[in-house]
Amino acid sequence: MSILVTGATGYVGAYVAAELLQKHQDPLVLLVRAQSEAEAMSRLWHALQLHLSLEHFREFLASRVRVVLGDVTLPRLGQGEANYRTLVSQLHGIIHCAAALTRKSERTCYNVNLRGALTVIQLARAIDADHGLNRFTHVSTEAVAGHRQDEHVLEDAAIDWQREDYDPYARTKKLAEHLVRELVPAGKFVIVRPAIILGDSRHAETTQFDMLRAFVALAALPALPFSPDARLDIVPGDFIAESIVGLHQKPGLRYDTYHLSAGSDAERFQAIADAVAHARGKRGPVFVPWTRKPFELLVNLLAHPQGGELRRGAMLLKVFMPYLFWNTVFDNQRIVEELGQRPKAFSSYCYPLLQFAQQHHFRYPYRAWPAGAPAQGS
Ligand SMILES: NC(=O)c1ccc[n+]([C@@H]2O[C@H](COP(=O)([O-])OP(=O)(O)OC[C@H]3O[C@@H](n4cnc5c(N)ncnc54)[C@H](OP(=O)(O)O)[C@@H]3O)[C@@H](O)[C@H]2O)c1
Repeated sequence: MSILVTGATGYVGAYVAAELLQKHQDPLVLLVRAQSEAEAMSRLWHALQLHLSLEHFREFLASRVRVVLGDVTLPRLGQGEANYRTLVSQLHGIIHCAAALTRKSERTCYNVNLRGALTVIQLARAIDADHGLNRFTHVSTEAVAGHRQDEHVLEDAAIDWQREDYDPYARTKKLAEHLVRELVPAGKFVIVRPAIILGDSRHAETTQFDMLRAFVALAALPALPFSPDARLDIVPGDFIAESIVGLHQKPGLRYDTYHLSAGSDAERFQAIADAVAHARGKRGPVFVPWTRKPFELLVNLLAHPQGGELRRGAMLLKVFMPYLFWNTVFDNQRIVEELGQRPKAFSSYCYPLLQFAQQHHFRYPYRAWPAGAPAQGS
């Protein structure tokens, strides 16, 4: 059953592609934004080396992976008519991970998360009309739930059209879910909403550092503007990959939407702050929740273009601030029931993760794609 994965050069897409390659047999088609096949190989290797050795990567390229150069914002994903028809006739399923996560450009969010999602949905419909679609798996986010505070959110209650969205990213992801529900035949799609994805419960290495930087910056403060009892919904990348692929591959799912979250096991700030402090060999911060408003004002001020040296850290905090304050549980009973697995607690694996991040100065030690390496299939 041939599966198209979009966004495989990204963090989640690489986890998904690696999970499919390592634990399943299906041929994969990877849509990559690149000017040439050589550039596509190099970019895929960049993303996938966290998961695969160079030898295995090459073996998979030669045996089971077809790379298609394209862009979700272009008509027919940038394919000519004949190529597009071939794609339609060969594919059975789609896992749509590609997205714009930028908080800076509303235009990019609309183009990629909405127009792009529509183009991928049209492909799913064409496959269905041609020979029957196996499944369209749409990777969404908890952020579609908009402004929340101290709530327990069930999957079917997350979308509330009367509620304010956090930002254009959240708004466009919410609208994209709507497109999927309206346009992909019922029973043929599944929507997954990951929580904050941080690290991997099996090993220390990661390629994504933004949230870790924010944590380390926060951990350096003597006092934090949060309640020590507030919950933070963090899940490891391996849980996300197993869940997305597990749902995509499982026939007869019970539901059409799943939170990939820590659910009621989401840890409290105190536990996470203690674990981070322990990892850094420092004392944990004190909690002063009544300073929330001035803290938010300060972060917004520093995130301003004239914010000076602290601007980068402030911008990161601004993006993550809603997740830090909302103290909301996204119910995960559905995924636990469906696949029989729970995510590991962040505090149980954050120590080596933070050590890795700090030792490598918040940068993965990437190995370059060997110059002159043969292109796919050769
Ligand atoms: N990371 C998290 O903590 C998190 C949490 C909740 C939900 N999610 C969801 O997970 C999904 C993937 O996120 P991520 O963290 O993996 O993001 P990411 O690392 O930024 O990856 C985004 C991917 O989308 C691709 N893409 C962007 N624009 C495209 C276009 N016009 N045409 C084709 N491909 C395009 C990127 O390709 P290039 O390499 O060419 O840019 C990249 O492969 C998103 O749907 C996001 O909403 C992520």
